[in-house]
Amino acid sequence: MPVPSASADGTKAQLSAQSLVGAVIDASLDAVVIADDAGMILRVNPAAGAIFGHALEDMIGQSIGAMIVPPHMRAAHERGMARHAATGEGRVVGKRLELDAWHAEGRTFPVEIQIEQIALGEQQVYAAFIRDLTERKAMEAEMARQRAQLHQQEKLTALGALLGGVAHELNNPLAVVIGRAAILEDALAGTPDERDIVKLRDAANRCHRIVRTFLAMAREPRPMQGQVNLNELLAGTLEFSGYGLRNADIAVEVDYDPAVVAIPGDHDRLVQAFVGLITNAQQALADHPGPRRLRVATALHDTQVQVTIADNGPGIDDAIKDRVFEPFFTTRAFGEGGGHGLAIARGVVESHGGAIAFESKRGQGCAVLVRLPIDPAPAGDAAR
Ligand SMILES: Nc1ncnc2c1ncn2[C@@H]1O[C@H](COP(=O)(O)OP(=O)(O)OP(=O)(O)O)[C@@H](O)[C@H]1O
Ligand SMILES: [Mg+2]
Repeated sequence: MPVPSASADGTKAQLSAQSLVGAVIDASLDAVVIADDAGMILRVNPAAGAIFGHALEDMIGQSIGAMIVPPHMRAAHERGMARHAATGEGRVVGKRLELDAWHAEGRTFPVEIQIEQIALGEQQVYAAFIRDLTERKAMEAEMARQRAQLHQQEKLTALGALLGGVAHELNNPLAVVIGRAAILEDALAGTPDERDIVKLRDAANRCHRIVRTFLAMAREPRPMQGQVNLNELLAGTLEFSGYGLRNADIAVEVDYDPAVVAIPGDHDRLVQAFVGLITNAQQALADHPGPRRLRVATALHDTQVQVTIADNGPGIDDAIKDRVFEPFFTTRAFGEGGGHGLAIARGVVESHGGAIAFESKRGQGCAVLVRLPIDPAPAGDAAR
């Protein structure tokens, strides 16, 4: 049917409906694939070529099933076409569906598809309108990941606040128990009751250590206790851990940057954090056939001191990478680890305005990187 249109000089020109429809189909952002009732492709538009990765001429005359339906769905596709041809019924025609399609590179990708049946005189043709959902799906997945991460963060913050509160409440009565136990220990020295009071004092001290752990984990805000030189602090920490490292046959390599300056920090809590990291490295190397290596290094980077604690052990599996900093997350056997080390280290480092991260691949060791700001005044800057 001729379609009238006006030209610039006002004279009527005739544009055939066929070429207008053809031009519209070709201009469509969605892929359009038109096939006959046997599933042979009659016409495709450039968007279809782009989305499916084929040259247009390669698609014409081919079976739609072989061209754009993933192999594992082809049999079902053929059955569906046959049923529709025989009975006029089908689960696909006239509906908007999200399916996997098949790319020329031999991979599936998500599409939204609507197939319409069009009667052309005696002949039936099928027109498929197809939209590539790859980007939308990737965006949705990324948003879901970020939502889950935020949820996890909120859970941790709530848990941290709870732990911090309980630990604070326990701290004062515990101090009384420890103090009184010390007085009683003196008073009962040499009597048969002395053993009992020593046990009591040891148990109270153990509780105190646990409470301190919880406080550290909860990132208890405490004013900085002084200036620490990380080179000296690490040398001291290694001395403390040295016996265990030597026993485990671990060669320790140190590389302290002499340019490292003293930074404001809480010496005891930083030692606690680094002992946890060194213990982790030592445990990671325990079953390693050797040679077993631990590297402790510092470096001055601009406004931060970076500490690296690296081992050549088994590394951290991708599957647990997102979880190792969680309080109580552990892969160790029951009774061997409480999942505190990294949670404490993160609590301590972040309360100093710093950041902690690790680089690890399964089988290729683990390097924990701690960055602490020289001037923590603009807190959090180091974490960026
Ligand atoms: N250097 C490392 N190499 C391989 N895996 C590690 C390393 N450091 C930590 N991990 C993994 O991270 C988990 C959590 O470590 P984290 O120090 O928080 O707890 P833990 O060592 O299991 O227990 P705790 O520190 O309380 O004794 C460990 O169970 C381990 O699976
Ligand atoms: Mg640990």
